Amino acid sequence: MAIIALVAAKGSPGVTTAALACTLTWHHRVVLAECDPAGGSILAGYLGGALDGPRGIGELAVGELRDGNLEEAFWSQLVDLDAPKRERLLLPGVVDPVQAGSVTPLWQRFADFFVELEKGQPAYDVIVDCGRLQVVAPPWPLLRAASVVLVVTSAHLPHLSSARATVNAIERDFADHRVPAGSLRLLLVGDGHGRGEVSKALGLPVIAQLPHDPRTAEVLSHGGTVRGGRPLMRAADSLEVPVRTLMDRRRARLSWPSSQEVPHAV
Ligand SMILES: Nc1ncnc2c1ncn2[C@@H]1O[C@H](COP(=O)(O)OP(=O)(O)O)[C@@H](O)[C@H]1O
Ligand SMILES: [Mg+2]
Repeated sequence: MAIIALVAAKGSPGVTTAALACTLTWHHRVVLAECDPAGGSILAGYLGGALDGPRGIGELAVGELRDGNLEEAFWSQLVDLDAPKRERLLLPGVVDPVQAGSVTPLWQRFADFFVELEKGQPAYDVIVDCGRLQVVAPPWPLLRAASVVLVVTSAHLPHLSSARATVNAIERDFADHRVPAGSLRLLLVGDGHGRGEVSKALGLPVIAQLPHDPRTAEVLSHGGTVRGGRPLMRAADSLEVPVRTLMDRRRARLSWPSSQEVPHAV
């Protein structure tokens, strides 16, 4: 632990904004890994493209396929979002479509590597932006390795049916791969139906609802000063507690009472 994977339901925007807001308010050391196969957007958006050269998961993948040097190369491919503290680091996503082909065969390798980051000195959590599942090669190994998977969806009716399809697809995949149940939750973005209604409709608990906050979302998408008091940042700030509770409960169940038992959902 701990990988926290965010994946969007088809048609629901907001997964990168949610992942970035969580990263900027996280209370532990954290790496935000942009693993959306459709490409990363934080470097060009929130960071305004201000870098001295290419950096990110694409470069990392090319190097790993060529030299098998992921462990050594990883830290130099990160951007410090809170320099010079190195407490909030970004692994930028793919920008060059040619590099996307290098990343695809390495999702399992990245998943195994991210899992190890919590054992490092210092330890890091990894928040993974998985984008949408409706792509040619979704990063399934990252979802399977995650301690918590958050399905990001708008709470409006048309989006709820695609959220249901996304949840069903993940549940099917987890069952096929014997991934213990209980790590999946909904993360609502914006207004619309209430948490109780959505949870009932989709048969899955809602971990939190991030408010519609276009001013803050604009800053997170295109750059500027993030204000901690804004509704979106306050909501993101309070997301870590239920996420950690879920991880702890799941961890306790997985080690109880024997590893032979299939754990119940939490
Ligand atoms: N909570 C929010 N309130 C208002 N606008 C939002 C919110 N979250 C995202 N947006 C806006 O929606 C658009 C898509 O957001 P983004 O996070 O990039 O979506 P995705 O990564 O799912 O494609 C952006 O213009 C962003 O500013
Ligand atoms: Mg995105």
